[in-house]
Amino acid sequence: MGNDTFKRYTVTAALPYTNGPVHIGHLAGVYIPADIYVRFLRSTGKDVIFVSGSDEHGVPITLKARNEGVSPQEIVDKYHKIIGDSFKDFGIAFNIYHRTSSQTHHDTASGFFKTLYDKGVFVEEETEQYFDEHAGQFLADRYIIGTCPKCGNEEAYGDQCEKCGSSLSPTELINPRSTLSGAKPVLKKTKNWFLPLDTMQPQIEAYIDLHKDWKPNVYGQCKSWLSGGLNPRAMTRDLDWGVQVPVEGADGKVLYVWFDAPIGYISGTKDLCDPDLSAEKITDYYLNESLKPKDNWEKYWYAEDTKLVHFIGKDNIVFHCIIFPAMLMAHGQFQLADNVPANEFLNLEGDKISTSRNWAVWLHEYLQDFPDKQDVLRYVLTATAPETKDNDFTWKDFQARNNNELVAIFGNFVNRVLVLSHKYFDGQVVMGSDFSDTDLNVMQELKDYPSKIAASIEQYRFREALSEFMNLARLGNKYLADAEPWKLIKTDEERVKTILNIGLQIASNLAILAQPFLPFSSQKLFKMLNLEVQDWDKAGTLNLLPLGHQLNEATLLFEKIEDSEIDAQIQKLMDSKIVNEQAAMKAEEAKPNVSFEQFSAMDIRIGTILEAEKVAKTKKLLKLKIDTGLDQRIIVSGIAEYYEPEEIIGKQVSVLINLEPREIKGILSQGMILMAENSDGNLSFVAPSAGIKNGSVVR
Ligand code: 2FM
Ligand code: ZN
Repeated sequence: MGNDTFKRYTVTAALPYTNGPVHIGHLAGVYIPADIYVRFLRSTGKDVIFVSGSDEHGVPITLKARNEGVSPQEIVDKYHKIIGDSFKDFGIAFNIYHRTSSQTHHDTASGFFKTLYDKGVFVEEETEQYFDEHAGQFLADRYIIGTCPKCGNEEAYGDQCEKCGSSLSPTELINPRSTLSGAKPVLKKTKNWFLPLDTMQPQIEAYIDLHKDWKPNVYGQCKSWLSGGLNPRAMTRDLDWGVQVPVEGADGKVLYVWFDAPIGYISGTKDLCDPDLSAEKITDYYLNESLKPKDNWEKYWYAEDTKLVHFIGKDNIVFHCIIFPAMLMAHGQFQLADNVPANEFLNLEGDKISTSRNWAVWLHEYLQDFPDKQDVLRYVLTATAPETKDNDFTWKDFQARNNNELVAIFGNFVNRVLVLSHKYFDGQVVMGSDFSDTDLNVMQELKDYPSKIAASIEQYRFREALSEFMNLARLGNKYLADAEPWKLIKTDEERVKTILNIGLQIASNLAILAQPFLPFSSQKLFKMLNLEVQDWDKAGTLNLLPLGHQLNEATLLFEKIEDSEIDAQIQKLMDSKIVNEQAAMKAEEAKPNVSFEQFSAMDIRIGTILEAEKVAKTKKLLKLKIDTGLDQRIIVSGIAEYYEPEEIIGKQVSVLINLEPREIKGILSQGMILMAENSDGNLSFVAPSAGIKNGSVVR
């Protein structure tokens, strides 16, 4: 179905697991692109709902609860609030931000399962599943780790390998071990209900083949799973946290989290469209009352003229492109996604973002450090979005894009045109007598921007769309810089009137076109222009501000970010790195006690390295000449892999001088240099912190 024939849009953004706060990777990969798309559609007057919520079931949550010694409910309550607030603070304009622990969700997910069960879709099968005898529990999904059979990653989960993206089942893992006790699990029989993806493969394949227009990374992943042949997949689990399986004989079993979570999009829509449910009645999730649609929920899921789009990260592709569509097909009443624009991953300062290693920029912390700079992060994350390949966020780039692009181009242009209008014409919109060729060219160029930007957004190319938007700001900035109204004002006021009029009209266009990308700045600009928020179709013209229109006071749209602010952020990350390294360091086991006499028998002195050279035909050995304060002697030391000879000459070290001399590679070594060995095997000298006399005793 062509774009223009859709009557309404159901746009979903992946439900984040509620086992930690959200970071820049979440924003860049899923929520900002989805928000740009939705804000654009709204601005073109489309009927669109934007649904997301918290994924509160699944093993990541129970594991976190277990680690912290609290209940899973406490974990989800805590993070649902933090995550929901972060999204709100960054202007992610959901109609509803729901949660899967809600009653509506439990009823919907359970009803969905029952429908499939009653239709005889599932294959009921007793299989052998891994069981942890110490913990007395079956080991589903992330309760089990082992080596990925596809890529050899030793830390693959029972449901998925995060390294190669393969979807797995626990029995496929090589050397499986329980994440609860570390024990080797045993196989035990249990009954579960399977979605027969194998027999459904032709239908699924036909669906994927209809969508060669999907992003190459998404389409490619789907094709590769299909070519490997789909296997039946259990839709139930022997766990106690989740939606109860609503059939007889299923005590102690819950729905597989990937069965229940995507149904969250449907249950969120149900609550959103429920005429009896007002924002006031809802205390534990977010419903934007002003965005309550008129149609009933079924229209947004069943109607052929509804376009369904899922925004997700690349690790969710199989679930949204194969398993969820298969569930919807089996149900029979639902439309399938028209597109699944999945992004790749965002790295941070050259390293993978990691919650457990605290290698992340957390959204709630960013806002503490940069309050009112939501749009700067939105801008940078869109400009560097990992749309086609993994990308890297660096604080230096963040600063440069703010200072050189937002401040120097967009902000500078808007500020100059408003300040000059106030200075020369008391903030009134004025107009000169005629247009120059440059004016006419600028007007011609301006006309094409709204459709160019729209086309990029419609094709999910948000980086390209943002870059076109900035080109318009550049056009305005250059127009003003070339025209130099501040010089002309002395000689040709009429001309200045025209220049400022065109400048102000461009600024108004920017306010409209900024809405999807930079909603806070767009609002601010509309306010400065004293203009009501305008729809997308108003852009492209130069008649947004009538003659005589009074402008409001000019304030800065963006402010320069100083080096000290960036250095502080980099330092914060470096601190995390040190904490991680220390945590990762496992101390060697203690040796048996020695007597004081035994210790005192060792004669350890401070000495200085006078000469150093490689021992011929060895990789590890250096021949050192040491001044021990008592004498100068030769010591052979195994440090050649860690130090170049020339860099250690003159260094003070600790030397065990009464070690029995021994011959090494034909050289008589008279003592030993003391070295500290790091957990990664690197060696460094045990040296006095300040210069001390050679021969001083170490005790
Ligand atoms: O990867 C994740 O964070 C999952 N919680 C995404 C779920 S998306 C959907 F299906 F709800
Ligand atoms: Zn793998």
